[in-house]
Amino acid sequence: MKAILLGASGQLGKEWQRIIDKDYSDEIELLSYTSSELDITHYQEVSDEFREQKPGVVINCAAFTDVDGSEDHKKRARKVNMEAPLYLAELSQQLEFKLVHYSTDYVFPGTKLNKKEFPEGYPEDHPADPVNWYGKTKWEGEQAIRQTAENHLIIRVSWLCGQYGSNFVKTMLRLGKEREELQVVDDQWGSPTFAENVVENCLNLLGKDIIGTYHITSKGLISWYDLAKAIFELSNTNVSLEAVDSDAFPTRAERPYFSKLSTHKIEAVEGSRIIPWREGLQRLLGQL
Ligand SMILES: NC(=O)c1ccc[n+]([C@@H]2O[C@H](COP(=O)([O-])OP(=O)(O)OC[C@H]3O[C@@H](n4cnc5c(N)ncnc54)[C@H](OP(=O)(O)O)[C@@H]3O)[C@@H](O)[C@H]2O)c1
Repeated sequence: MKAILLGASGQLGKEWQRIIDKDYSDEIELLSYTSSELDITHYQEVSDEFREQKPGVVINCAAFTDVDGSEDHKKRARKVNMEAPLYLAELSQQLEFKLVHYSTDYVFPGTKLNKKEFPEGYPEDHPADPVNWYGKTKWEGEQAIRQTAENHLIIRVSWLCGQYGSNFVKTMLRLGKEREELQVVDDQWGSPTFAENVVENCLNLLGKDIIGTYHITSKGLISWYDLAKAIFELSNTNVSLEAVDSDAFPTRAERPYFSKLSTHKIEAVEGSRIIPWREGLQRLLGQL
């Protein structure tokens, strides 16, 4: 199978390349494009490349992921997160490739009531109601794909962490070396998603030719404070941690209070593997 990977220099894009290179290079011919090699908003170039390469699958890891920056660059965020995915979906229909696209827990409103109603997380079909511009553009991108491309897989992930790029786990490890005391927010609830586990589960879905919308994250419901505490415990880092409210760190974009994604749907797929968050964290710390 020939696959095109977009956004290849991001944390998920790099994980895709690592896993395909390591374990799947016989089965999958992966053509990877960073933003400078193929900008997904340059439609003519995208179309020309796809027509020449004739991929069976396009994996879109490209996104405008700066949640706070999205509030200041609204047009650009919408272009990358909604308009370009719509174009990819149109090409998917015309050229008959499967479009794999990633979205976010931030499509959901994340209220305190929802936390009580869905202790195991939002189901895939719960109505979206994003609280920030990034979440809004990601939701619009999802909708554009659903309405345009029959052969699509939309995967929502939350609190993504992996070996590459920047993420909460790597930031905490760095701060743990620099400081003796740290404050971490204890009023945002969800679960980390490990990039390696995303790729493994996506490969399973691709192998079964499954389409639709799926959540992939780890098992458990925790706060950022809980995650930081475990990072320092498991890495034997001695830091005095203080749990604080989000008000202690005002941000440009509002964050949902609760954004846990339910994984019941994907767990029903044979061969899927959803891991407890501590297991994923332990494995990632071993890789870093
Ligand atoms: N990170 C999280 O916590 C999180 C949470 C939920 C969902 N997600 C979703 O998961 C997916 C992967 O996220 P990630 O953490 O891997 O993101 P990331 O590390 O920020 O990577 C995004 C990549 O997209 C590329 N990109 C941006 N604009 C582009 C364009 N116009 N054309 C081509 N490439 C472009 C970036 O390239 P440059 O660096 O060169 O700009 C970057 O390599 C995204 O859909 C994101 O919305 C992430």
